[in-house]
Amino acid sequence: MEIRHLISIEDVSAEWFTSLYSICRDMIDHPGDFSGICNGKLMASLFFEPSTRTNFSFQSAMMRLGGNVFGFSDPSATSRAKGESLADTIRMCAAYADTIVIRSPLEGAAKAASLYSAIPIINAGDGGHMHPTQTLTDLTTICQRRGEIRGFNIGLCGDLKNGRTVHSLAIALSKFPDIRFTLISPRDLAMPEYLLTYLKDHGQNYVEVTNLEAAMPHLDVLYMTRVQRERFADPLEYERLKNVYILTAKKLERAKKELLVMHPLPRCEEIAMDVDADPRAVYFDQARYGMFIRMALLLKMTHMARETPPPTASHKGSQRCKNPACVTGQELYLPILEKTNGENISCAYCDGKLLTI
Ligand code: CP
Repeated sequence: MEIRHLISIEDVSAEWFTSLYSICRDMIDHPGDFSGICNGKLMASLFFEPSTRTNFSFQSAMMRLGGNVFGFSDPSATSRAKGESLADTIRMCAAYADTIVIRSPLEGAAKAASLYSAIPIINAGDGGHMHPTQTLTDLTTICQRRGEIRGFNIGLCGDLKNGRTVHSLAIALSKFPDIRFTLISPRDLAMPEYLLTYLKDHGQNYVEVTNLEAAMPHLDVLYMTRVQRERFADPLEYERLKNVYILTAKKLERAKKELLVMHPLPRCEEIAMDVDADPRAVYFDQARYGMFIRMALLLKMTHMARETPPPTASHKGSQRCKNPACVTGQELYLPILEKTNGENISCAYCDGKLLTI
């Protein structure tokens, strides 16, 4: 099935990824063959939150395809600072560009943007919720290094509560055969309940543990993450938890020879620099693969026809999302949308719980 907006990794099937990856592999092997394929196309790059890799890899991906980019990484220099709504900002950028890449601290912002956009929206990270293009990067890395995604014990380690990359990755990997998850975190930073429910409902095999060293010999992939300082309300709580896991060369002595050590980056202190020289450390190559899979994605997204979205009703109703980081708490005109997963009903923007007032 074709995807018009890339909002949630839930929309991505293993088949869709495999077809995108096949284009990506051609781009890695023969980059010159694609250098003018997006001539005349424009990408709007809307970064409401800091970024190095996602922002610059999207920009360089578009330029390598022969396209152009406009946008911002400082929203205070746009009319958002005068009070313009997200909906109107999106309508304007959709009038000028062929695809919009958006990163926001608000969970569900990309979903909200898709309601007002005549062109494809790509979610480049929405708060602590999802980061689907990082996941495409991660799946590409595993395919490039292992040839396929099957039969692996994947260790997700660190801030599993606030880390959007591990949320998206867990959902994506559950679509591939015979994956086991080892969820390594302190109890205070455990995977959110809605994701554990997702894994259970999809018949996934997972264990939650706190000890990285004990898990190490059993892992095929170790996906390290930083503790997400920007998501903590209490700085002391961040200080208490920030260095709970530090991977060192010494700790890797107990790991499999063919282990992949991955990290979405940026890293803080959770991977010591003495790990960088280990051939199992693939995080810098991972970031480069991210540019190629984004090239493949942009090729698809910038060649889609414009489609005026149907009118969106303003919020009336008696429901609210309980998640304080949800976009519906800031953009008050947004209609509350429900998402049903079995017996669970949640906010269709951020997966939070809905409250009737
Ligand atoms: N991995 C990632 O999203 O990095 P940036 O925040 O630098 O984009």
